[in-house]
Amino acid sequence: MTTLRIFSNQSASQSNLRVGARLDKYRIQKRLGEGGFATVYAAFDTIEGRHVAIKIPDDRYVSNSQSLDDLQREVRIMARLDHPGVLQLKNAQFAGDRFLMVFPLGEESLADRMCRRMSRALIVDYLIQMVDAVAFAHENRVLHRDIKPENFILFPDQEIRLTDFGLARIESGMHDVSASGTLGYMSPEQAMGHPSFRSDVFSLGLVLYRMLSGELPEYPFEAPLPGYNRLRRGVSSDLIAIIRKAIDPSPRKRFRDAVAMNNALAKIRYPLSDRSVAQRVGAGRGTRRSTRQAA
Ligand SMILES: Nc1ncnc2c1ncn2[C@@H]1O[C@H](COP(=O)(O)OP(=O)(O)O)[C@@H](O)[C@H]1O
Ligand SMILES: [Mg+2]
Repeated sequence: MTTLRIFSNQSASQSNLRVGARLDKYRIQKRLGEGGFATVYAAFDTIEGRHVAIKIPDDRYVSNSQSLDDLQREVRIMARLDHPGVLQLKNAQFAGDRFLMVFPLGEESLADRMCRRMSRALIVDYLIQMVDAVAFAHENRVLHRDIKPENFILFPDQEIRLTDFGLARIESGMHDVSASGTLGYMSPEQAMGHPSFRSDVFSLGLVLYRMLSGELPEYPFEAPLPGYNRLRRGVSSDLIAIIRKAIDPSPRKRFRDAVAMNNALAKIRYPLSDRSVAQRVGAGRGTRRSTRQAA
């Protein structure tokens, strides 16, 4: 039934807005990107005088009550997750028949950034923030279920923030029957319809693996994993052990959640093998990065 509706609305669904279009107090400036359900625009808040990112779900999702419930869930989850590593929801509202979710405007997604070279120090700086952000969500009983580079947004001063809680759920102990998420970073058990904190850990581990190795291992994740030698270059064996544990094909052998992964990470004094770079982990949660490398 839902499927039919989605297909029948397909042609009318695109909420393509022209540059200069006005939505309430926001003026659209350009299209930034789109995922499966929404289009994201850069816009100008004409009252606050600031640039923002506006996420507008496709019409077809605002036109039925099931997906309105999903939208409301996404908004409410993001509104209550207050952490420097989670993209802050500034505002959510209807403007006419469009639904807007307004966020601070970032520079690009991690997926975009990964197309260009990143130093080990930069990757480790991001990595620490990413694990901390997912740990915060898990601490608040929120499963993200769609952790991938497209859903991390970069900001100035080497800050990175997790967004897109569109598939997120409050963990209730119940298993979901339908598989959702993105195949590339999805754990085997989530693909079978069993998402959990451990499957978020897996996806996070795969993103980190890819940042360090340049390769994305695929099911059934057999050793030797592609790019494994490159993965190890310049980072400590303790850090590699954490990433390997996070992507173990067997959920029971992984960290039980990102909080446990974050705790293990905090114990590593020197994540980089070059100790002349004074990058240390172990800053308290939410405190603004004492982890940044000197210079
Ligand atoms: N705050 C932001 N600043 C800059 N770009 C963003 C921002 N939010 C999203 N984007 C871009 O838009 C894309 C889709 O956003 P996302 O929130 O993931 O929506 P979807 O549910 O459609 O995947 C992201 O992958 C990113 O490229
Ligand atoms: Mg997305």
